[in-house]
Amino acid sequence: MSETSQQLAILGGKPVFAAPLHVGRPNIGDRKAFLRRVNEVLDRRWLTNGGQCVQKFERRLCAMLGVRHCIPICNGTVALELATRALDLQGEVIVPSFTFVATAHCLQWQGITPVFCDVNPLTHSLDPQKIEQMITPRTTGIVGVHVWGRPCAIEALTEIAQRRNLKLMFDAAHAFGCTHQGRMIGNFGKAEVFSFHATKFFNTLEGGAIATNNDELAKKIRLMKNFGFTNYDQVDYVGTNGKMNEISAAMGLTNLESLDEFIAVNRRNYEAYRRELAGIPGLALIVYDEAERNNYQYVVVEMDAAIAGLSRDDLVKVLHAENVLARRYFYPACHRMEPYRSHFPHAGLLLPETERLCTRTMCLPTGTGVGAAEITTICSIIRTALDNASAVRQRLQSA
Ligand SMILES: Cc1ncc(COP(=O)(O)O)c(C=O)c1O
Repeated sequence: MSETSQQLAILGGKPVFAAPLHVGRPNIGDRKAFLRRVNEVLDRRWLTNGGQCVQKFERRLCAMLGVRHCIPICNGTVALELATRALDLQGEVIVPSFTFVATAHCLQWQGITPVFCDVNPLTHSLDPQKIEQMITPRTTGIVGVHVWGRPCAIEALTEIAQRRNLKLMFDAAHAFGCTHQGRMIGNFGKAEVFSFHATKFFNTLEGGAIATNNDELAKKIRLMKNFGFTNYDQVDYVGTNGKMNEISAAMGLTNLESLDEFIAVNRRNYEAYRRELAGIPGLALIVYDEAERNNYQYVVVEMDAAIAGLSRDDLVKVLHAENVLARRYFYPACHRMEPYRSHFPHAGLLLPETERLCTRTMCLPTGTGVGAAEITTICSIIRTALDNASAVRQRLQSA
């Protein structure tokens, strides 16, 4: 056993980090600008219901994405519910299981059955070659997910959707600020849904938005997000309360001003991890297409336990013991969560790549709260753990 390995917390040493380093620690832009905006909101006494901040935020989003509409919503999950409902999705809808559970829940919540389709092991998003076998007479749509901000196989999905008369939309919760073939995400499918949750690199505290170039759809979503009100005293739709409030929009306006900086920090961190983890057998960082704009908000490690000597789960335990709160993400896959696990107990048979990926991937801390020195330390913990894999395994087995 090497000298450094004795210092690993899992082997009895003290944690390297005194305070936890989280994945998804919020980025916060110019605090003074935010507080000034909050004060203005309070002075105006207009806290929600399409106030000035929300209107301005919407205009900025549209300009940035080059879309006709980008409607701010109270969170990404309600935005998904609104978009799928406004598109009149019913019956069965094809989705990946390798995603955050909200992608499936937004359908199930509305009595629509999510049908889980396997992903491509290289891209981690829906495998177009596996979609057709999941289509039945009850299928009405496909919800692709731009996992890690890397766009899905948009052209192939569009071709299938058109040929099979299905509606295609995207869960773009991870992909704010990214491009596909030079075009901003937000412009594809019938609609694309963003999450601006606190853990996303760009946040509005809680929040989300629906981007679409379809005027009719946008009109319907605007009514639905406001209880279906078409006029002061008139309701024409079943609606919900999906409105974004003014303080969230003030945070959005503020953080938009720092968006380029957030992305630059994410990229710098991602490249530092890449450099420091290069050459470790059985461990690889996912790659981004450098010809596109990426937000680099996820540093995703994929591990092959047989080669690395430690499983992903063991390495996560080592990191947690050091106060590095790496996350098994996505784990478990949606089909292994309730109610899907009970509804489709054998779904895994059709999802071999998803099943494999869920045991191999984890996210490391990044964002403006993580610096170069911390990344060096995290990577050295990983190297030390793998260099001393058998001692670590023994300790974990006896724990
Ligand atoms: C892929 C995906 N879809 C949907 C959501 C839900 O967004 P929100 O948390 O804003 O409701 C998230 C994130 O939380 C997500 O990662």
